[in-house]
Amino acid sequence: MEFKNLLVENNDFISWISIHRPSKLNALNLAVLEELQVLFAQLKTDKNTRVIVLTGSGEKAFVAGADISEFSHFDQNQGTDLSRKGKELVFDFIASTHKPVIAAINGFALGGGLELALSCHVRIATSNARMGLPETSLGVIPGYGGTQRLPQIIGRGRATELILTGRMINAEEALQVGLVSRVVPQNELLDTAALIAATIMKNSPHASSRAIRAIASAYEDGVDGMEKESEHFGACFDHPEFKEGTQAFLEKRKAKF
Ligand code: COA
Repeated sequence: MEFKNLLVENNDFISWISIHRPSKLNALNLAVLEELQVLFAQLKTDKNTRVIVLTGSGEKAFVAGADISEFSHFDQNQGTDLSRKGKELVFDFIASTHKPVIAAINGFALGGGLELALSCHVRIATSNARMGLPETSLGVIPGYGGTQRLPQIIGRGRATELILTGRMINAEEALQVGLVSRVVPQNELLDTAALIAATIMKNSPHASSRAIRAIASAYEDGVDGMEKESEHFGACFDHPEFKEGTQAFLEKRKAKF
């Protein structure tokens, strides 16, 4: 598939994705969502991809939200469907990708744009970034996982305040509440993402994927996270990367993963 709304590059086992709809501040229309769905499905099994970095094209926006013009005329059934399908095909799919996904937030991350970042495993931002879930100002609520993931990440009280007020927070506040883990100047964003990716890639890909799944299991209904952790922990022992990692330590050399 040829991507018209995504810029995609792969260097040194990192796949870089830029959402590219500059005239609409990279707002997520159906075409962008379809392309993200296809691309993430490809990257899941791509041997040259160990870490994925998601960002927005240009210097103003990561993603300014779902494309409001596409759903303003929807009724209840269409709204429910939009939310369910979007989550299943893109937002939950990204969250459950076993390879680490880093959101590099380079400007506005609003509504569906912030929800996209919330689906990623790591979030970093530029100092000019602005984040928020302004859906209640449009007469709707976040529907791509925002009411669930934001409280998990920053706590219920803070998330409720942000969702009910719909206010935007700056990068400094986002760092303070744990919404992002680093804030850097605009011109250092991609280098910082590359550095985080490179640091992750020094470690076992198998262990990374197990860690992502173990952490996620804490938030799955009816799942005992502690038990899942034991299962994922145990599964590492039969994997060659565990043998390599422990052997390398004992032999006082760097592990080769
Ligand atoms: N859906 C559709 N189009 C959007 C959009 C969205 N979520 N966000 C921005 N755009 C479009 C604007 O309509 C405008 O298009 P136009 O030039 O054809 O009129 C273009 O992107 C530029 O946006 P503009 O509003 O002119 O930029 P700004 O710098 O004045 O304001 C924002 C930036 C982000 C504050 C403003 O665009 C905004 O509030 N966007 C909507 C945010 C939102 O509510 N998102 C949640 C949706 S669920």
